[in-house]
Amino acid sequence: MSAGSVHRVSGPVLEVEGLEPGMLELVEIGEARLPGEVISLAGQYATVQVYAYTGGVRPGDAVVATGHPLRATLGPGLLGGVFDGMLRRLSGAPALLADGARLPTLDERREWSFTPTVEPGGRVEPGAVLGEVPETEAIAFRARVPHGVSGTLEWIAPAGSVTIEEPIARVAGVDVTLAERWPVRRPRPVAERLRADAPLSTGQRALDLFFPIARGGSAAVPGGFGTGKTVLLQQIAKWCDADVIVYVGCGERGNEMADVLEEMSRLEDPRTGRPLLDRTVLVANTSNMPVLAREASIYTGVTVAELYRDMGYETVLIADSTSRWAEALREVSSRTGELPAEEGYPAGLATALAAFYERAGRVRTLGGDDASVTILAAVSPPGGDMTEPVSAHTRRFVRCVWSLDPDLAYARHYPAVSWRDSSTRDAERVGEWHVARHEPGWAARRGRALRLLADADRLESIAQLVGATSLPDRERVTMLAGRLLREAVLQQSSLSANDAYCSAAKQEALLELALDLHDACAGVVERGVPIARIDELDLSPATRARDVAGPDDAAAVQAVAEQLRGEIWGLA
Ligand SMILES: Nc1ncnc2c1ncn2[C@@H]1O[C@H](COP(=O)(O)OP(=O)(O)O)[C@@H](O)[C@H]1O
Ligand SMILES: [Mg+2]
Repeated sequence: MSAGSVHRVSGPVLEVEGLEPGMLELVEIGEARLPGEVISLAGQYATVQVYAYTGGVRPGDAVVATGHPLRATLGPGLLGGVFDGMLRRLSGAPALLADGARLPTLDERREWSFTPTVEPGGRVEPGAVLGEVPETEAIAFRARVPHGVSGTLEWIAPAGSVTIEEPIARVAGVDVTLAERWPVRRPRPVAERLRADAPLSTGQRALDLFFPIARGGSAAVPGGFGTGKTVLLQQIAKWCDADVIVYVGCGERGNEMADVLEEMSRLEDPRTGRPLLDRTVLVANTSNMPVLAREASIYTGVTVAELYRDMGYETVLIADSTSRWAEALREVSSRTGELPAEEGYPAGLATALAAFYERAGRVRTLGGDDASVTILAAVSPPGGDMTEPVSAHTRRFVRCVWSLDPDLAYARHYPAVSWRDSSTRDAERVGEWHVARHEPGWAARRGRALRLLADADRLESIAQLVGATSLPDRERVTMLAGRLLREAVLQQSSLSANDAYCSAAKQEALLELALDLHDACAGVVERGVPIARIDELDLSPATRARDVAGPDDAAAVQAVAEQLRGEIWGLA
């Protein structure tokens, strides 16, 4: 370990002399051993970004190099926990998170009940499962041979209690423990990257039916302030069919993280009836924490997601919001004297975003499992400007864009997912996956509904100019279908007991309801029935069906469809 001293302090950035560290090496500053990371080296000076308050740090303070990069301690006990951006456990009420109230990542005294799953004697490679501990009731923590270790499994612990730092096995002379340290900026290795085609079910119709994401895909949720990004991502955290959720919160409002934690801790996992926290890891950055812990937090979060992926689980990383994360980058770049690029962001912004989204994917793990990390991230451009650098670069690197429309949010059409500005590159693969599952109609239904929505939008803008009554009946039927799709299918309130989550069967029933009623209306109009007669019918059961039918109750929706179809055809 080499030692040096602080030369200059500028907010979270220090200039250090007398130290010969490597790039991205972790250093510790002063008696408090504040953690910092070397971000540039020039002559006798190293520039260090500090992941803690630098109040009180002064020139001359000692700086010690640790010999390793910024890394996180990984092991059982992460699930259900709340951590800061460097994966230090946060304790106490979230609103009171002071810098002092930090514990090590994991409880080193806690006893875990270990069950070996292999016999000693054989040869093992990195990723091979050695045994497991029940981390929570929902998830077993599978202990594996760490990266870089292979050879004869000389010894394995018998079934019984272990702490995270006690050896559970010895491989070629190396002791293996449940705890492992991993440099968070480095992706955890996999055997093979696989093509992502199975959809992640989010339980949100606007996404699953229209802009689906594959497990292992990535999605950005761009939207101005108050358009519903946080609500949408939280709905997905609650309802999506992943095994493990890692939620990285960089709140925009002061108490937002406290609200998230409060809400998450109350929630039941709809699938197991157990607390949702049993399969959730929260990484919280509140506005009173050092800005740089935020910069580290998305890498820390994705590293934790990769850890559970490597055990064979389907994992989802949610980051809300990456714009707050990018501000941390900007803060640093303004202090280092580096020439800033677009709008004050460092020149490395695009590379940093690419490296982050690159870590999403469906893979074959070193242990041979098929597993995935899906990344979902909010982008909140200042003033809703979608051309600013973070939004523009993010679009290049993600597979799905779920764009939230301020006009829809203003009209209380929730979720305000725009059918015009959203897109997905996974639709074709998901369509093929549905075909393989004997649902060949999925892609056609989606295409038809999107075309109807676009046609209805176009007709509506014409109707605003010339009046709806001057449009031909056939076109007014299209407008009616657009309204049905928007109100009966796309709208989905997070507050509705029956509809906050929607099963695949109910999703399809609702979409079919809208399309069937369109067909019926078009059919009777073709037979000469004036549209005014259709307008006299009460079609409100169609728009109420989503709230009236339970989350799995496709039959109730089908009954409404049948009744209304009968009434419409009755006009002919
Ligand atoms: N799916 C939804 N269902 C019902 N209300 C919603 C929904 N999405 C957003 N809202 C409303 O919009 C408000 C702002 O949403 P929020 O997610 O905090 O916005 P953002 O994170 O984009 O700033 C919420 O407090 C809620 O009242
Ligand atoms: Mg928000």
